[in-house]
Amino acid sequence: MTQEKWTAVDRYITDHLVPPDAALDAALEASARAGLPAINVSPNQGKLLMLLAQVQGARTILEIGTLGGYSTIWLARALPKDGRLITLEFQPKHAELARANIERAGLSHLVEVRLGSALDLLPQLSAEKVGPFDLTFIDADKEHNADYFEWALKLSRVGSVIVTDNVVRNGAVLDPASPEASVQGVRRFYERVAAEPRVSATAIQTVGSKGYDGFSLARVTS
Ligand code: SAH
Ligand code: DHB
Ligand code: MG
Repeated sequence: MTQEKWTAVDRYITDHLVPPDAALDAALEASARAGLPAINVSPNQGKLLMLLAQVQGARTILEIGTLGGYSTIWLARALPKDGRLITLEFQPKHAELARANIERAGLSHLVEVRLGSALDLLPQLSAEKVGPFDLTFIDADKEHNADYFEWALKLSRVGSVIVTDNVVRNGAVLDPASPEASVQGVRRFYERVAAEPRVSATAIQTVGSKGYDGFSLARVTS
């Protein structure tokens, strides 16, 4: 199997199940034009996030790592009229573009883009008592995934769901000697989740237009 085939099958799936959408397409176009890296979730993974949030009946969502707001728009689409999504982003250019993309999607009333480093913003959310969040999507710098998971758990309730992106990294996760901080971060994330009795968790490998990676799903059980 090759990247070419994974991309073609993703296109086949998306052609059948993920209809073109003006706001989502415009968000990607504006992001590309502004020179943002194309590391947003794929359309079919974005729809999976929306479906997960719907299955969960999520009214409150936390996202760590906004980029241009592509995954944010998918997640916010799952919310009821009085729902709330807070997304954290430390690049001013990304946050600004995300706000414009979210506005164009008609979701500004549901979404708050907070500018800053997630490790500074998460304790603030906790102090403000804005949680608990029904669903958290962790998708920022992989280096701090274990810390993000820790905070997501603090900001959760029994029954909350924590989804973490990019937990396979082309299989690099297997290498204990990897010099990459992101790989070491993902490995610390697994250690942390494995040692956490309050969650039930798994991870799934994925291939597609974004290569070979995977995501983890954890449910807070106590
Ligand atoms: N969730 C997005 C993709 C996020 S890419 C989507 O699928 O559409 C990761 C984002 O996390 C980038 O925009 C990057 O600037 C941001 N980021 C990286 N480190 C961060 C940190 N410490 N705090 C907050 N955001 C961070
Ligand atoms: C990277 C980050 C992501 O969130 C992603 O989905 C793919 C790649 C990255 O930093 O390279
Ligand atoms: Mg990601």
